[in-house]
Amino acid sequence: MADESGFSKGLAGVVADATSVSQVQGEVGRLIYRGISIEELAEKSTYEECVYFSLYGKLPNQNELNKFNAEMKANRVLPKTVEAVIAAAPRSAHPMSILQAAVAAMGFDENPVNLKNEEHNIHNAIKIISQLATAVARISRERRGLAAVAPNPELSHAENFLYMLNGSKPNKEEAHIFDVALILHLDHDFNASTFAARVVASTEAKLSLSISAAIGALSGPLHGGANEKVLEMADAIGAPENAKAWVANALATKAKVMGFGHRVYRTMDPRAKVLRGMLEKLVATKKEKDTYETLRIVHDSMIEELSKTSKDYIWPNVDFWSGALYRLMDIESIDFTPIFAVSRVAGWSSHIIEMWRDNRIYRPAAKYVGPADVKYVDMKNRK
Ligand code: SDX
Repeated sequence: MADESGFSKGLAGVVADATSVSQVQGEVGRLIYRGISIEELAEKSTYEECVYFSLYGKLPNQNELNKFNAEMKANRVLPKTVEAVIAAAPRSAHPMSILQAAVAAMGFDENPVNLKNEEHNIHNAIKIISQLATAVARISRERRGLAAVAPNPELSHAENFLYMLNGSKPNKEEAHIFDVALILHLDHDFNASTFAARVVASTEAKLSLSISAAIGALSGPLHGGANEKVLEMADAIGAPENAKAWVANALATKAKVMGFGHRVYRTMDPRAKVLRGMLEKLVATKKEKDTYETLRIVHDSMIEELSKTSKDYIWPNVDFWSGALYRLMDIESIDFTPIFAVSRVAGWSSHIIEMWRDNRIYRPAAKYVGPADVKYVDMKNRK
């Protein structure tokens, strides 16, 4: 935590701002969005309703929700310029790089930010939240050499995303699972990508460019990129019977096991519990069970081994199970992190809208540890 100068590596434990959007209660493994637990929202709500709740700070009545849903659907189609940016990207580029460019392109015609006009800013956010899902599906199909699938206004946000991604309507069970996964990933107080969004937006930069910055932060394997790495780990382990030995070796060599550990949680990530529950139900209906079995053994071995050490505060996080769930829905692992962005764009937007109500540019102090009063040396006198 912070030293006498206030310096704390990675800003660990530093309170950077106040927020009402969400709270991660790390010691007890609880997550609330504006006071409601994610377990209750996962059970009773929908992603659209949670987006409204996150942006406006109140649960919508039926009329408000209907209008909001209509606005989300009306904004699903990508502008031609965004389509052109996606089409111009090399198929070898990681989808998060293309997504970052696509979201910046969504703001090509964005007016300069007017902090006083919150209603306008919220409608701008809704446009980006809706279009980002279409962009992720489009980027995936471009990479796979598949024709674009136009949005279907009959479908919910989750259903429509899977429809545009796979070219066929999802069954009700998978659509519901995906909707819950979107709820679970919507916000997580000051994680790295949300903090990035806030820093950029605090300069009164455009919403599209602040969201684009957040996408850059989310792409890293220590953050949103971890769920893709968890499946790479499962595939490298090869079979469930190899998992226990793999864990022993990983811990012995101090390797970072993807999907484990968290800056704030000191116990099980509550989102991991909900994801695992849905995964176990889905696995029961599928032929492919090895990925789950391998991860289950990694999960149990890691918890057992770590409990015997001083690092008993390292637990599974949201990324540990999400990839296995998406794989059973025939989603390619390279699309996992973009899917994280499909959900989290609502949290990023909510934080920006909240911060703009009483904005002050982020500019923290630095702890200078370099030399003082150094003399300039002419080239002829340098060694
Ligand atoms: C997300 O912040 C958020 O809220 C993020 C997120 C969200 O919703 O936005 O929750 C989403 O990003 C989840 C995290 C996904 N990332 C991973 O699963 C990657 C693996 N995890 C680690 O890289 C790490 O745990 C972090 C990045 C998540 C947290 O990093 P910290 O808080 O800086 O912890 P650290 O790296 O300083 O580790 C402290 C100790 C170290 O040991 P020592 O050097 O003290 O001996 O714990 C060890 C680490 O080696 N450790 C791990 C470990 N994570 C930490 N050891 C083995 N496996 C791990 N995964």
